[in-house]
Amino acid sequence: MKFFIDTANLDQIREAQDLGVLDGVTTNPSLMAKEGITGRENILQHYKDICAIATGDVSAEVISTTYDEMIKEGEELAALHEQIVVKVPMIKDGIKAIKYFSDKGIRTNCTLVFSCGQALLAAKAGATYVSPFIGRLDDISTDGLNLIAEIRHIYDNYMFDTQILAASVRHTMHVIDCAKIGADVMTGPLSSIEGLLRHPLTDSGLAKFLADYEKGNK
Ligand code: E4P
Repeated sequence: MKFFIDTANLDQIREAQDLGVLDGVTTNPSLMAKEGITGRENILQHYKDICAIATGDVSAEVISTTYDEMIKEGEELAALHEQIVVKVPMIKDGIKAIKYFSDKGIRTNCTLVFSCGQALLAAKAGATYVSPFIGRLDDISTDGLNLIAEIRHIYDNYMFDTQILAASVRHTMHVIDCAKIGADVMTGPLSSIEGLLRHPLTDSGLAKFLADYEKGNK
């Protein structure tokens, strides 16, 4: 399973990249705003800065909602850097845009996916990634992980190339459950990745090993 970090914070991206297990970055307009990145030129520069730190795919989301505007904006984003994947919302014009980008060899991430039907459409249009938001489904008492399992089943039935990018991951158990189900990618905060490191028996075991070494090497 690929690990993406879901942030526009350069320090966190650097920290995840330094860990050596990062496969990419996802951003969205809210994450960019959270970092205080505003204005078209600053936003485009920030995507370039992310690409300079991370070695994998970097999802950059279009703000436009009509076909013509999404094509123009998406092409501009894709031209920024070869790592850029154009993130397109799951709306009618978005599906048309994904088909256009797919035919042109521009990679896409279909975002704001909350149902199997939407995921099926995204795959039919040729999306590189489909992003079902599991945390936001959990937030409204709907099983987000079940959606990942259902999409996995559908994609396997027809051997779609579209990769399932489990998004809106909120914690470490989401990461582990997505791996069990067979999500191709997960995107979450740095804490969801770092949580995989922790086990109290590792900590106590290491403390004992080091203490025993000290005793024998005084
Ligand atoms: C996906 O690409 C989105 O950026 C993200 O995962 C949304 O997560 P949230 O529901 O925690 O905002």
